Amino acid sequence: MAVLKVRLYSNPILRKKCPEVEEVDKEIKKLLDDMADTMYHDEGIGLAAPQVGVLKRAIVVDVGEGLTALANPKILWRQGKATGPEGCLSLPGIFLKIKRSQEVIVEGIDKNGETKQIGAAGLYARTLQHEIDHLNGVLITDHISRKKLKSIRQQLRKIEEGR
Ligand code: NI
Repeated sequence: MAVLKVRLYSNPILRKKCPEVEEVDKEIKKLLDDMADTMYHDEGIGLAAPQVGVLKRAIVVDVGEGLTALANPKILWRQGKATGPEGCLSLPGIFLKIKRSQEVIVEGIDKNGETKQIGAAGLYARTLQHEIDHLNGVLITDHISRKKLKSIRQQLRKIEEGR
């Protein structure tokens, strides 16, 4: 169990597409445990492996309904649209309104190596979509208009300088 260093905006690792986890072995279990520790320590509600410098398809989410830790998460089904504020541990201090699917069904492999399907709505669904985006190198800044992006440029620069 360990708290890992979260990589910040403009770190190139956040832009990589992560390969699938081949097997949920001891190493992946430890990664998921450490990611959960890091998420709770940094008071986030979700974290993806590339944010801690690991190019693997692994995420953790806890929106207050208990911990979800998955390897190879993918969205099987989605429905509806909802716009709401989102932050990201890699973009401290930035909150953006992002349009997401209202409900999703996500399939992934849990820490026991079992395939699980999770039905989620609202904030839980939003956070799962946010973390899966990270595995494809996508950040919340990719979901906003150019104009909005321009308006937060100073904040982004501060994060870049501090990282
Ligand atoms: Ni994030």
